[in-house]
Amino acid sequence: MKRIGVLTSGGDSPGMNAAVRGVVRAALGRGVTVTGFLHGWQGVIDNEALEMTSKTVGGIIAQGGTVLRTARSKEFMSPEGRVKAMGVLKSEDVEGLIVIGGDGSLTGAKALYDEFDFPVVGVPGSIDNDISGTDFSIGFDTAVNTAVAAIDKVRDTAYSHERVFVIEVMGRANGFIALEVALSCGAEAVIVPEVPYSLLNICDYLRKMAGKGKRSAIIVVAEGAARASDIKEFIQSNTGFEVRYLVLGHMQRGGSPTAFDRTLSLRLGAMAANRLISGFHGDMVGVDGQKLVSHPLSYVLSTERTIDPDRMMLVDVMAQ
Ligand code: F6P
Repeated sequence: MKRIGVLTSGGDSPGMNAAVRGVVRAALGRGVTVTGFLHGWQGVIDNEALEMTSKTVGGIIAQGGTVLRTARSKEFMSPEGRVKAMGVLKSEDVEGLIVIGGDGSLTGAKALYDEFDFPVVGVPGSIDNDISGTDFSIGFDTAVNTAVAAIDKVRDTAYSHERVFVIEVMGRANGFIALEVALSCGAEAVIVPEVPYSLLNICDYLRKMAGKGKRSAIIVVAEGAARASDIKEFIQSNTGFEVRYLVLGHMQRGGSPTAFDRTLSLRLGAMAANRLISGFHGDMVGVDGQKLVSHPLSYVLSTERTIDPDRMMLVDVMAQ
């Protein structure tokens, strides 16, 4: 291979820049040139190509977001869109592509691989950490740390005013962020879409704790499970406690990546480039413990990541 391409697609996540840096410098080190496509799959269709040099990726390791920009392309989801994209890749002499993104982006990579036998390698990039085949996806650790730092501040005022706070975190249809955040900030309860919950039980628990003199609490709710505003109303009207809510929102997607996310991203990016250049295609790279691994995209996209029941239980045990 003489030239490969790289793009970031879907929701941005802190560490994507470090991954791009890993891809570019590993490829250049093997004498392979790199084209970056702006705005994800849409940028391939629209031929927003950019020559990536060692300098292009200088100084970006600590930057949140993605210098390649990102988008969610409807056009690429149609067969016609993919034919256009293939035409552009050919005209730009791009012989293989590294796709950094979540489920939707990796589904696009698999489509190119299946339909055109085009060499692709996926890199898991999403704060949601909902991608199978890897313990961590790029940006999860940073997003969790961002949410925890915010909730630590809320805890102070919750304690002073003896209030209950319901805090909504991202995660799309999954509760991985919520669970990790709840454990890290010592939340009194967590609500995730994967596990049935009872608001009446939570109200009972709050009353019981108030009886013991503990009159403030943090309840973390995953956006995919319920709206924080609804939970607030329910608890307030059932218990008479003063309740406030907060939606952390997109702040969880931004900010400088943690050291963990930086090294994870660099390692995954470099590995993806090396595998693509060495002829291993149709896979997604990932991490299993400390080890880098790789799984077929067909496996990754057909397997669901599940919530750890021990961690769920630990939230309750710690809240006694
Ligand atoms: O997938 C990442 C994510 O931040 C989800 O947690 C969230 O549901 C979604 O993207 C928000 O998407 P948008 O930025 O399009 O509002």
